[in-house]
Amino acid sequence: MVIHFIPEIADRVHYVGVRDPDRRMFDALVPLPQGTTYNSYLVKGEAKTALIDTVNPGFEDEFVERISKVSSVEEIDYVIMNHAEPDHASAISYVLSKNSKANLLVTKRGADAAKLYFNIPEDRIRVITDGETIDLGGKTLRFIVAPMLHWPETMFSYLEEDGVLFSCDFYGLHTAYGLYDDQVPNMIQYAQRYFGEIMMPYKSMGKRAIDKIRDLDIKVIAPSHGPIHRNPESIMGVYEKWTVGETNDKVIVVYATMWKNTEKMVKQLVAVLEERGIEVPVYNLEHADIGEIAKDLVDARGIVLGTPTVVGRMHPLAVYATHLVTILRPPVKYGVVLTSYGWGKGALSHASEILGPTGLEVVGVMEVNGPPSQENYSEIRAIAGSLADKVLLEK
Ligand code: FEO
Repeated sequence: MVIHFIPEIADRVHYVGVRDPDRRMFDALVPLPQGTTYNSYLVKGEAKTALIDTVNPGFEDEFVERISKVSSVEEIDYVIMNHAEPDHASAISYVLSKNSKANLLVTKRGADAAKLYFNIPEDRIRVITDGETIDLGGKTLRFIVAPMLHWPETMFSYLEEDGVLFSCDFYGLHTAYGLYDDQVPNMIQYAQRYFGEIMMPYKSMGKRAIDKIRDLDIKVIAPSHGPIHRNPESIMGVYEKWTVGETNDKVIVVYATMWKNTEKMVKQLVAVLEERGIEVPVYNLEHADIGEIAKDLVDARGIVLGTPTVVGRMHPLAVYATHLVTILRPPVKYGVVLTSYGWGKGALSHASEILGPTGLEVVGVMEVNGPPSQENYSEIRAIAGSLADKVLLEK
């Protein structure tokens, strides 16, 4: 492999991460239409060198080759593990096997994870405390414990002299293209999608982390996926809203349909919402991109679920989407369920089972036998009106 360019993102801070444009799925859950990157940074002080995070399995040789363009693996004094998920931490054991002196710096929970997942020996691990600093010689790294972003052991590292925040998964996005935020078209949309898929369940922890770094002079955010934010106010601004669950006049509609009856019901409802000026992204689950659904869940105030009955239960695609809503914990407040059936009911009670514990206020439900009648359409329009009233009242 020929490595041509190792960007220096700040004074003596080198980007040594790798790009994975062909990857299409993460955690067998998150679609990656533009692949992703596994970012890693080498910070060279006058006396010591620190490596911040590593790369996904399979990229070890490329990674070491990139490091060798600006330093060498043997010269590294500290390996910093901001997060233990293998896309960032699996190459730690490879690096330590080629370096006999470096210590691994981790949180207390990170030490357990490093031993469990990567068999890192106890005597190579040094547990940091919240706020602790290390001096590299003219470069000071401060560690900020920020758990559940996105596993329990996560932390940020902050380079004081240059104002660089190494935030690991937080503030990241999945695209293999563009080194800096201003080189990625629709950067915020990709960031929102990523937030919905990965950070939304932990948004209260995200808010806590933001409060911890609020007084730092952050000039650059260097996350572990996607572009480096040299205009950090942009990503920080939207995270301020998303982590507190700020919603818009928006209702997301997800539905499955077998013989178009559920779809007819959904379309009737959508028409009313749109007449009221509400933003209504609509997803037919037969070909929907789950990442786009996650993106719209980040700031939608209402949700509509449409599903036919299949053998007394919801359609399996609707089950999947509904389960996603329960685990992603979006800030959505109001819901409507529209179901249809041929000869036996069941989808509506199944939906209630799953959505009941979410705390969603169900504004209206319908269960229609066969094709919807004119009377059914009138009822749907009434339900849509009630939903619109609720959504618009939040202003
Ligand atoms: Fe990119 Fe949670 O790992």
